[in-house]
Amino acid sequence: MDFLLKTLSDKKEREGRVDTFFKNEISVRVDSSDQINIDLEIGCGHGHWLNAYSQNNRGSFCIGIDLISKRIRKAQTKKDRYQNNNLFFLKADAIDFISYKPNNILFNNIFIFFPDPWPKRKHHRRRLIQFSFLNLLKLHTNRNSKIFFRTDHQDYFNWTKSHIELSKDWKLNEFEWPLEHGSYFQELLPDYSSLSAIRA
Ligand SMILES: C[S@@+](CC[C@H](N)C(=O)[O-])C[C@H]1O[C@@H](n2cnc3c(N)ncnc32)[C@H](O)[C@@H]1O
Repeated sequence: MDFLLKTLSDKKEREGRVDTFFKNEISVRVDSSDQINIDLEIGCGHGHWLNAYSQNNRGSFCIGIDLISKRIRKAQTKKDRYQNNNLFFLKADAIDFISYKPNNILFNNIFIFFPDPWPKRKHHRRRLIQFSFLNLLKLHTNRNSKIFFRTDHQDYFNWTKSHIELSKDWKLNEFEWPLEHGSYFQELLPDYSSLSAIRA
């Protein structure tokens, strides 16, 4: 197949998966097409933290996304075991998921815990936190939306802090941590730093 056609069909396929997810999981649970606020964990891994958070926040829709199918399956198994009916998982890339979601969905709290640090300088452009990403998040959030970020990697922590300080889209704040509960990586890496930010 022609490279351009393949790229376009891949994009259409990924867009379709996100669209189907929202139709099947979220739209059927609400009465109207009004604005819906969602709490999103990006890179949710095995879903330990988000399962606990969703139990404490039964009135909120919570979504966890991750690139790795096996992690999403494990997260889903926990959700089913604990009957966390306000919680949903999807295998998806963060930028795709945010870009392709329906317009009436806005992210309320965004959780990013122990993201891949890409320690080598030549790989820093692969880090999730970039000015373009902070701007994308702003476009899909509401006025009170918050970001909660935690990492064991001091250089990535400093990078994220300075990107937020320099960003026109978010400002640092010291919000109470929404829930202290381990994640798979937090258990492995108990020495970490955290920050939170609100939309500017
Ligand atoms: C180091 S793990 C941390 C997992 C979990 N947050 C924890 O604390 O246990 C980082 C996770 O982010 C996921 N990830 C990396 N880039 C991503 C992206 N662009 N979109 C969604 N998930 C991503 C990886 O697949 C991986 O599971």
